[in-house]
Amino acid sequence: MSEKADKGGSSRKGGRRNLRERVKTARGRKLSSKLWLERQLNDPYVTRAKEEGYRSRAAFKLTEMDDKFHFLKKGGRIVDLGAAPGGWTQVSVARTGSDKGPSGTGGKVVGIDLQEVDAIPGADLYVLDFLEEDADIKVKEWLGGEADVVLSDMAAASMGHKQTDHLRIMALAEAAAQFAHDVLCEGGTYCAKVLQGGAEQELLRMLKQDFKVVRHVKPAASRADSSEMYVLATGFRGRQEVDEGEV
Ligand SMILES: C[S@@+](CC[C@H](N)C(=O)[O-])C[C@H]1O[C@@H](n2cnc3c(N)ncnc32)[C@H](O)[C@@H]1O
Repeated sequence: MSEKADKGGSSRKGGRRNLRERVKTARGRKLSSKLWLERQLNDPYVTRAKEEGYRSRAAFKLTEMDDKFHFLKKGGRIVDLGAAPGGWTQVSVARTGSDKGPSGTGGKVVGIDLQEVDAIPGADLYVLDFLEEDADIKVKEWLGGEADVVLSDMAAASMGHKQTDHLRIMALAEAAAQFAHDVLCEGGTYCAKVLQGGAEQELLRMLKQDFKVVRHVKPAASRADSSEMYVLATGFRGRQEVDEGEV
């Protein structure tokens, strides 16, 4: 957005109207929703997502991370935990080529969420709480084998209490790391949303044990004023088979 437009002026570039939108505080609309709406209307990633047919601005976070670290490979098997409304799943389909059918690259993308996700060609979408017992077994069945990548952009519905929200997101990321341990193939990748600040030690301990490399990544599409970031763990070491005779 041009500086002029940013200050409340308007400009027309490439035929597109470029206005900084302001939202009036209507009676009954809380200030927090007014600010949220204003931010959405002026967010370049929201505009790009609409133009490029992505269901969420979050699609650009995964795109950026994969552009840099190349973990969504053609023919890969991906599970997207917390897939709704489907932006990450769309990116996964495009990168693995899972929409090209069995004669194509052979990629497979499974998205699961507590909510229904509208169909995405090339992806299998299920309503499932990944915390359910046997969710890992179901997902492996749907994938047709172990996963190359476990993605989690999951967030629990906000309670409006910062510390509680933080703990709940971290609990989801830890459970997703355990899920990744159960479904990944050797060499596999785990990529999950976390929040900066405390309560991260347990997750990092689990990941360092299971993966060769663990990184924190803050994609440009992740809002600078948010404590959100992503943890990217690559090179899954594999599950140690426990000998039944061992105590
Ligand atoms: C921020 S959204 C994901 C956005 C998505 N990555 C995209 O690009 O469209 C987080 C999602 O996590 C889902 N979620 C939270 N807890 C879950 C659970 N236990 N099992 C499955 N999905 C869950 C929520 O329902 C929500 O739709």
